[in-house]
Amino acid sequence: MHLLRLIFALFSASFAAAWTTYIVPHSGGNDDTPALAAALSANKSLTTNATILFKKGVTYNLLTPIKFPTFHNVIVSIQGNITYASDIATTQSIVASSSFPGHWFSFSGGTNIKVQGSQDPNWGWINANGQKWWDAMQQVSLQVNRPPGWGFNGISTGEIVNLKLWQPIAWSFSFSGCNNVYIHNNTILAISYSSSFPYNTDAFDVGGTNLIFENNNVYNGDDCLMITGPASNIIFRNSYCNGGHGLSVGTLSATSNVVVQNILIDNVVMENSVYGARYKSFTGGVGSAKNITWSNITLKKVRLPIYITQHYWDQDNGPKPTNSSSQTSTSLDTFTFQNFQGTIDDSKGNGVSGSTGKEVVIFDLYQGTSKSLLAKDISTTTVSGSNVMVMCDSSTVSNDVGFKCWDGQYEPTAAGK
Ligand SMILES: *[C@@H]1O[C@H](CO)[C@@H](O)[C@H](O)[C@H]1NC(C)=O
Ligand SMILES: *[C@@H]1O[C@H](CO)[C@@H](O)[C@H](O)[C@H]1NC(C)=O
Ligand SMILES: *[C@@H]1O[C@H](CO)[C@@H](O)[C@H](O)[C@H]1NC(C)=O
Ligand SMILES: *[C@@H]1O[C@H](CO)[C@@H](O)[C@H](O)[C@H]1NC(C)=O
Ligand SMILES: *[C@@H]1O[C@H](CO)[C@@H](O)[C@H](O)[C@H]1NC(C)=O
Ligand SMILES: *[C@@H]1O[C@H](CO)[C@@H](O)[C@H](O)[C@H]1NC(C)=O
Ligand SMILES: *[C@@H]1O[C@H](CO)[C@@H](O)[C@H](O)[C@H]1NC(C)=O
Repeated sequence: MHLLRLIFALFSASFAAAWTTYIVPHSGGNDDTPALAAALSANKSLTTNATILFKKGVTYNLLTPIKFPTFHNVIVSIQGNITYASDIATTQSIVASSSFPGHWFSFSGGTNIKVQGSQDPNWGWINANGQKWWDAMQQVSLQVNRPPGWGFNGISTGEIVNLKLWQPIAWSFSFSGCNNVYIHNNTILAISYSSSFPYNTDAFDVGGTNLIFENNNVYNGDDCLMITGPASNIIFRNSYCNGGHGLSVGTLSATSNVVVQNILIDNVVMENSVYGARYKSFTGGVGSAKNITWSNITLKKVRLPIYITQHYWDQDNGPKPTNSSSQTSTSLDTFTFQNFQGTIDDSKGNGVSGSTGKEVVIFDLYQGTSKSLLAKDISTTTVSGSNVMVMCDSSTVSNDVGFKCWDGQYEPTAAGK
């Protein structure tokens, strides 16, 4: 693969030149962020051709966020463990302050940046103490000032590999405006061991160009992938997602003309999730989504394998907007859902008004806003053994979508076989 070879060449060439390895200092139970931040800002030899090493055998305390400087040819290597503060109120006051950089670990700009974790099962874990937060914040009104995890903004060429997140509080990885980054073999375990739900633990929130995600392993309570855009040429493949909300594109904005195009999501196992493939945009959205494929998706007890809605709204901000002919929506062009196999969990309902909870596909569309939608090679059964259903309004689609477009049983058409 072209991208892989490029990254490999860059890092091996760099090793031949003068290279600095900086071992992040650790001091007892104190916060290790200030000394690291001070060294990075005072010593320019650490921001180019350097390795910043959290060494094996040490459990670092990053009790305050770290905003990395602009790096060129830098490896951030996490071989030791890292823990966040365990005190919620102190962390919330940091997140609320105007100097909070937006993520606990934030990267902005720079070129050839590699962030790598450890292959040793006992080390390289980043422990955010999420369980405490989930237990304290089951009510939506209490969910304030939670720190997002890793933010990559405007990175050009990079690799993020083998990171292991243990109980991240919320929003694990976010990418905006990045180009040419390979994100692989990362582990996210937002697993709750009480009855508390790990809200908003999105795994990958994505905007950018030429990004490849693969072999990632995710247990969480929100989107496994959320492509918010602007985004083009994104591949997300060969991965496992358990417990969350699905492989999503959206929520395209009501106010700005965001474009998401050329997306391939292939060979992903979705287990115990609410959705498999999902597209959502707000009523009144003005963006567009084009050439998006979800293929080779294995479903294990997924409540709603394929869901497109242009009527998404945030329940926290009031009632669902009423439909009026003056409202616009995003435009959808060439969405392909191919080879979805497995089981639909029809014991819990899928939350869509008017549904039976046994649907494999729901297309909830405005009229005249979409073209070339196709669901083919779909082979699913419900856990209860009852018939697989669909919801689709034929006045909103302009082609053979691969199944009979009605509110009724799933019946593949010529295009769907
Ligand atoms: C970093 O390494 C590159 C490639 O080996 C070299 O061309 C460049 O001059 C180095 N930069 C600095 C600031 O040392
Ligand atoms: C910069 O960091 C390197 C690597 O730790 C060290 O060798 C060097 O002395 C430091 N320079 C200054 C000015 O602190
Ligand atoms: C991928 O991640 C797993 C879990 O951390 C680790 O055991 C394995 O060694 C990693 N594989 C590679 C090729 O780095
Ligand atoms: C590193 O953190 C993980 C996750 O919290 C933990 O299971 C592991 O025991 C820690 N390793 C050591 C050596 O303390
Ligand atoms: C559609 O997207 C895929 C995946 O990114 C890409 O390989 C293909 O070239 C795109 N097709 C067009 C017509 O742009
Ligand atoms: C789906 O999987 C098949 C078999 O591995 C593969 O040939 C095909 O390319 C995949 N589909 C896409 C769109 O990548
Ligand atoms: C929205 O309203 C328009 C105009 O009354 C109507 O034609 C259309 O069917 C409605 N769409 C939905 C999805 O209810």
